[in-house]
Amino acid sequence: MCGIVAYTGCKEAYPILIKGLKRLEYRGYDSAGVSLAQNGTLSTYKQKGSVDQLDEFCMSKDRSGKTGIGHTRWATHGEPSTTNAHPHLSSDGRISIIHNGIIENYVYLREELTKRGYQFQSETDTEVLAHLIEDIYKNEGCSLEEAVRIALKNVVGAYALAILSADEPDQLILAKKGSPLLIGIGNNEYFIGSDGSPIVEYTRKVVYLEDGDVAVVSPQKGLTIKNIDDETTKRPYLQKLELNLEQLEKGGFEHFMLKEIFEQPRAIKDSMRGRLNVKKDIVELGGIREYEQKMLNARRIIIVACGTSWHAGTVGEYLFESIVRIPVEVEYASEFRYRNPLIYEDDIVIAISQSGETADTIAAVELAKSKGATVIGICNVVSSTLARITHAGSYTHAGPEIGVASTKAFTAQVTVLTLMALSLGRKKGTIPLSEYHKIISHLELIPQQVEETLKLNDDIKAIAKFFVEKRNAIYLGRGINFPVALEGALKLKEISYIHAEGYPSAEMKHGPIALIDEEMPVVVLATEQDTYEKTVSNIDEVISRKGRIISIVTKGDSVVKNKSTYCIEIPETLEILTPLLSCVPLQLLAYHVAVLRGCNVDKPRNLAKSVSVE
Ligand code: G6P
Repeated sequence: MCGIVAYTGCKEAYPILIKGLKRLEYRGYDSAGVSLAQNGTLSTYKQKGSVDQLDEFCMSKDRSGKTGIGHTRWATHGEPSTTNAHPHLSSDGRISIIHNGIIENYVYLREELTKRGYQFQSETDTEVLAHLIEDIYKNEGCSLEEAVRIALKNVVGAYALAILSADEPDQLILAKKGSPLLIGIGNNEYFIGSDGSPIVEYTRKVVYLEDGDVAVVSPQKGLTIKNIDDETTKRPYLQKLELNLEQLEKGGFEHFMLKEIFEQPRAIKDSMRGRLNVKKDIVELGGIREYEQKMLNARRIIIVACGTSWHAGTVGEYLFESIVRIPVEVEYASEFRYRNPLIYEDDIVIAISQSGETADTIAAVELAKSKGATVIGICNVVSSTLARITHAGSYTHAGPEIGVASTKAFTAQVTVLTLMALSLGRKKGTIPLSEYHKIISHLELIPQQVEETLKLNDDIKAIAKFFVEKRNAIYLGRGINFPVALEGALKLKEISYIHAEGYPSAEMKHGPIALIDEEMPVVVLATEQDTYEKTVSNIDEVISRKGRIISIVTKGDSVVKNKSTYCIEIPETLEILTPLLSCVPLQLLAYHVAVLRGCNVDKPRNLAKSVSVE
């Protein structure tokens, strides 16, 4: 949610900033802007819309300067517009600031600064920081860095900040609380990013700023980090940036989303690599080994997550309850954190997040930790906030996910949850050995079966035509495929803007059936064996109200197939593993519908990939 990039060194900053902004655009694409330090002044260029629009606008401008900051915005305070775009300037135009996060007490600060004569150009919360820092800098006679630290003591909220000043044009001031920020260290040059994507092609040496850090970087003076409240200098902790440049490109696919859907066999395999060995009969997640006993003794498990990760968590509930026989509660992180939940010291909280930066999930983790619970993370982005604040955890190894609609992260999360449940179930003795062996040998086949499922791409593209003019859709699933129905509906609505609802199949009679007529596509997941007849009855109920069935069935099915307008057959697996296959056609369906409707698949309107504000 909002992307930050900055550079200071001996190169021209502009090309680095623009390239970085393009990489970070998945974090927000309402507007973009840059500020460059040029001969004792700052030049700031901003545009509503994409980074390409900004780049085009800048073509006729002076783009020189060896220190600069750039921002791509997901609007929170103030509509998407050029005026509300970052960077925001101090009233004398000599301090420029970009921000990711929310300044919660901005109304109060704005009032105070207005009383002191400051005039505001934008409706953003960020602009108060530019004036507040300017006010302190001018009136306290201190350095800009000190002014930033004093200002931030008066700020309530979350931020990652990069600040550029005309007075010290070879220097950047950075600060972090709540939102991510890392510094790439080159040869007398510094590359700053909200994540590693704008940095990786220049250096792999990075420092992840911690909450409360204020850093100053300059090619002449190097890097210093202090705490907002503490004058003492902190030793930077250098880490290696784990990221591949090729993973950040589309690799011949039309969209990142399609590329990422097709990467799932590899992503699932990578998430199992070194953790599942069927021949040696091993299921082991090294990252949680130390906490496994605690997990086995837990009275209950609470899973916290948002969005697609919440859906993966809901699949996890079925997995853990059936394999480990521990009660599981799946919570929306945003609800959990604000309702004074009961959390006990022997609770295990599993936090799931692709980005590892989702503000509500991070806050839920902090809350659980403060109550003494053990928190296990499942996340995709290495060294993200979640990875750093949890007691232990497992990475998903899906590789960078750029498309805003999550796909491979979901299947990788479900893979890790399956491995976790199997490892614990085996140790706890809650799963018969024969059953355990059956599951692991089927799990090993999943990457290959996803590959097979992807061959249905053209058939699904043809089915997508049926949805193009529709305004609504219902997705039905039972048991472990109910969360898949929710995920399928989410995919369709977020990228094609067709309203879609996921429901447990049997719940249809309690409301959604009223919506069914000849216009209503009903996508039914009908792969489960135990309740197959019940699902067939649900399908009949839809058909008798003239609804149209699009079914996902196990290869060889004839009963549901014969009742369906369109039928997608997926390879046979154990019911408990079906989400890893059944979600794939739903991702492809949403993708093709969105493309046919002319929607911007990788950057759906109003959304952002990493929701680092509440
Ligand atoms: C946003 C993204 C979703 C994602 C959700 C949770 O809404 O658009 O794709 O599922 O955030 O993100 P996380 O990074 O915590 O999994």
